[in-house]
Amino acid sequence: MNISEILDGKFAGKDVEIKGWLLNKRTIGGVQFLIVRDGTGIIQATIRRNEVGDKIYDEVEDLAQESSIIIRGTVKEDKRAPGGYEIKVTSLEIVHKAERDYPLAKKEHGVDFLMDYRHLWIRSPRQTAILRVRAEVIRACRDFLDGRGFVLVDAPIFTPAAVEGTTTLFEVPYFGDKAYLTQSGQLYMEAAIAAFGKVYCFGPTFRAEKSKTPRHLTEFWMVEPEMAFCEFEENLKLQEDMVTYIVKRVLEKRRRELETLGRDITPLQKVEPPFDRISYTEAIDMLQKAGFQIEWGEDLGAPHERYISLQFEKPVFVHRYPAKAKAFYMQPDPQNPEVVLCADLLAPEGYGEIIGGSQRIHELKLLEQRIEEFGLPKEAYEWYLDLRRYGTVPHSGFGLGIERTVMWICKLKHIREAIPFPRTINRVYP
Ligand code: 4AD
Ligand code: MG
Repeated sequence: MNISEILDGKFAGKDVEIKGWLLNKRTIGGVQFLIVRDGTGIIQATIRRNEVGDKIYDEVEDLAQESSIIIRGTVKEDKRAPGGYEIKVTSLEIVHKAERDYPLAKKEHGVDFLMDYRHLWIRSPRQTAILRVRAEVIRACRDFLDGRGFVLVDAPIFTPAAVEGTTTLFEVPYFGDKAYLTQSGQLYMEAAIAAFGKVYCFGPTFRAEKSKTPRHLTEFWMVEPEMAFCEFEENLKLQEDMVTYIVKRVLEKRRRELETLGRDITPLQKVEPPFDRISYTEAIDMLQKAGFQIEWGEDLGAPHERYISLQFEKPVFVHRYPAKAKAFYMQPDPQNPEVVLCADLLAPEGYGEIIGGSQRIHELKLLEQRIEEFGLPKEAYEWYLDLRRYGTVPHSGFGLGIERTVMWICKLKHIREAIPFPRTINRVYP
């Protein structure tokens, strides 16, 4: 059994065994109150001298935070205990006596200090709550796509060419030649749709983001579905359904974690299709009216996305950006070739972009022209052009950033808490 099952009330009055770690301890009136965690939850355990004997009682008295222990005892319902249950200990085994100077023992630390000790910090209740939500988000993405008949196809990490612009490429030496860490598996998913119809990849992606922002990592995880015979509109529908599914799943399975985080769930409960939609042109208009210095043609930055997202209660699509502000592979809008059939999905409460997606160019000549206009080396894309030579069809897809999504659902101030071991411009340790 584990602590979360005990807190669910399944073991009231019963004998249990818990294997875990000591989080905290105090003594009141000859009773030691231990706070114990086992990775599934936190529970209070009480130790009395006459129950466990002098030797164990005295050893526990001397035990430091993070010591590993096995406790056995009886579960008691007790309104005063955190979580409503406590364990009356009958025997206790010390597996390891932790050293005294646990670096995170004191409550107040700066984020940089905590990040230097990320390997220990991930044990804390807030961090485990976030990382459990992350695991649930990932599971929800996979379940959703698997349930809709998408085939998981893994994309390579070493790649010969850029997907999302050449300025954020990580170059790595490759046996006398060079390669790049992937920015996105998209181009490979475009190859895979002709094999399977509907596919997705899920994995780490890399961008040499040179700016320090609260929402950029250099290594982040992305889920990227891609569909053959799929146009712009159908792509947005899938995004609405998927994001709704993810949020509902977290609300259903990770309610306790959201409570630990103090997350007000009312905004999350409003996430239902259809989401709102505004065009890029409307967005610029809205921003200019609100006093932002921005001209048509410029990409939206974090403050712009924040403002727009705060005007809506649900996630909002901003669609049809200027071709020049976006990636080379996006299909021009037949109504107005200055803009492309793309959309970013902005999460509410000021969070901004969590998804970038588009209909892709499926016509060979146009794609060749774009590769040239963007100054990209054509040789590196020959294989990608082949996809337009042999059985090309209208197709669309998108990429959902896992950490951005977790950041929003958990309402975090900084993306670095949304991933177990964050990588940013000034951090590759631990
Ligand atoms: O908008 P992006 O750059 O789109 C693509 O990579 C497409 N090739 C995806 C596709 O269509 N298959 O990135 C997609 C998402 C963003 O919306 C954001 O959530 C996340 O990836 N993202 C980042 N997350 C953390 N740190 C960064 N530096 C990120 N850059 C993008
Ligand atoms: Mg984007």
